[in-house]
Order: sequence, then structure tokens, then C-alpha cells
Amino acid sequence: IRWKTGWKEGFNMEEIILNALKENAGYVSGEELSEQLGVSRTAVWKHIQELRKKGYVIESRSKRGYRLLKSTDRLDGSEISRHLKTVELGRVLRLFDTLDSTNAEGKRVSATRFENGTVILSEEQTLGKGRLGRVWVSPAGKGLWMSVLMRPTDLEPKDGSKLTIVAAAAVASAVEKVTKLQVGIKWPNDIVRNGKKVCGILTEMGAEMDAISWLILGIGINVNLEKEDFPEELKNTGTSLRIELGEEQAESIDRNLLCAEILNELERFGRLFFETGRLTEVLDYYRERVLVKDRELLVHTRGGSFHRIGVGISEEGHLLVRTEDGKTEEYMSGEVSVRGLYGYV
Ligand code: BTN
Repeated sequence: IRWKTGWKEGFNMEEIILNALKENAGYVSGEELSEQLGVSRTAVWKHIQELRKKGYVIESRSKRGYRLLKSTDRLDGSEISRHLKTVELGRVLRLFDTLDSTNAEGKRVSATRFENGTVILSEEQTLGKGRLGRVWVSPAGKGLWMSVLMRPTDLEPKDGSKLTIVAAAAVASAVEKVTKLQVGIKWPNDIVRNGKKVCGILTEMGAEMDAISWLILGIGINVNLEKEDFPEELKNTGTSLRIELGEEQAESIDRNLLCAEILNELERFGRLFFETGRLTEVLDYYRERVLVKDRELLVHTRGGSFHRIGVGISEEGHLLVRTEDGKTEEYMSGEVSVRGLYGYV
């Protein structure tokens, strides 16, 4: 049997057996598995049954053993780890079948001693949270609903929002790598395609006056949702990567791979930001995709909503706009409608 290096550390028996099946294209003998793992053949068989229940298609033939015919499209820790190139992010993965919200779970975890870069994932969210108290629709098995927990000790609370710019760049880049689709960014951190939203990010943080104690990047991506998975009120404003890839896309998109790529890109862009304390390099990527320049915007503030023309994004990641009489204004955070996006005409 071929084994992956490091296959024994931190994995349970089921994951170890699964790894063996993945590493070996042909049959893996049940007897050898039981000998090398030090468990009975019945125990091996029971783990195989559990894997089958999870959707893995495993053939078994007498005298030859087990062979993996088809992987599952469920979220799977060993699958994600296989694609990870990170040092810190995603080294601790917590997977759930269902949760109220991965951000809510993140907050519960943030009250404990957590590993920087811990990731929480759920197949489904029953109370998915969007920005500004909105609901985030999160049906089972079709999206990537994930929260990344960080302890950015060197970052001042006022700079926490810069991480959402980093996150948007990272998600856009990961999506483009995995799907080959070109995407746009709606400031500050929605990912859009054909004028519709594919991804939203909800950043939450806990801070003292001058230090961030925890920060959660909650990333929601509509990966394999189909048209009928969107409630009526979102049909014109939301879309999924699968829908955007079109009918010829017979296979669903690999959420485990996408998750790993997001973490890889988040660590890469994160390093560019943390090493310099500046967004400069991240913005090189971000500005190419952000849909702002010369666009008609409606900027929503507490004092009302105002028409502006988009100018660009500042070095701080702030939105720059122009008023009708030519004055420049800067917004640090907030809500904007962009004509042409999300049904705003
Ligand atoms: C938005 O309104 O655009 C932000 C949506 C954020 C959704 C994600 S899904 C994973 C994480 N958990 C939540 O409850 N929300 C975020």
C-alpha cells in the first residue's frame, strides 16, 4: 500500500483508510490495511461502510480488496488538507453538517483559546447572517459557508476592515483559479458575475481600544446552487458559480478544492498585507476587478442616500467618489448600490 507522508498524524481511522484508497489507484487489500493499521478486518470493513454512507463509492472484491470509484462531493477535511499550501490557515478545520451560522460558531470558539487560522465549515446554515442584519440563504451541500478565525495582534481596530479587502481579493482569485470564470468585485467585498452576487463576506471582530482580540472572516459562496435553490426575491440579484458556468458544466464544482484555494490565496494576500502593513500589492489585484470607476452609484448613509460617480479605491481601501459639482469624497465603509448590479437600474 502506498501511503501519503504524514498520513497518521491528526487523522482518525476512517480518514486514514480514505487516504489510502485515494493514494492507490488500484485495489487496496483489506488484509494489508488491517495489518498495517493494527485493527481487525471487520473494523476496516465497518469504516468502509461509514465512508459509503457519506457518499463515497467503494467497490469491494474478494481476494483483491477495496477500490475507490468515486469521491464524495461532501465537505471533507482530508480532501481540503490535501490541497492546502498554507502554514497557518486551515490547519485546524471544524466541519459540521448543520449550524446556525459559522460566524456565530466562530464567536463561540473565539471565547476559547483558539488556533490562529481555525476554519469552521458547515454543509448548511439555519441562520446564516448577511451584512446589516440580513439573512444569508445557505442550503445544504451546495455552497461554501465558512468562517476563518484570526488573531491579528498587530492590527489596530481601525484597520480591521482592510482585511475584508484582502479577503475579497483572495476569494476572487481562488474562484478564478478553480472555475476559470472572470469575476468582478463590488466594493467592499462582494464577488459578482454578470451583475449578480456570487459571494458575500461578513467580517466581525472583537477589540479593545487599541488591539483586535479576534476577527472572523465569514465567507459565503454560492457554488453549486441551481436556479430553484434561490428564493424568489433573490432570483434577479443572486447567482452561483455553477449557474455561471452554464449547462455544459455537468459535474458540480469541487467545494473542497475551492475551500483550500481560498485559504491558500488568503494566506498569500494576507502575508503581502501584514508584511508591509499596506494594501498596495493587494490593491493591484483588487482594483483590476472592482466595479467603481465612472459608475453611477447610490451611496447609502445614515443621513440618506446620495447619487455619486465612482472614482476608485484609495490606498486605505476606501471608496472614492465624485459629487455632481466635482468634489471628491471618501467613504471608509458602508453600503453602495452600483447601477447595473443587483437589479439596480
Ligand atoms: C453579505 O451580506 O454579503 C455577507 C454574507 C456572508 C455570509 C457568510 S456564510 C458563512 C458566514 N456565516 C454567516 O452566518 N455568514 C457568513
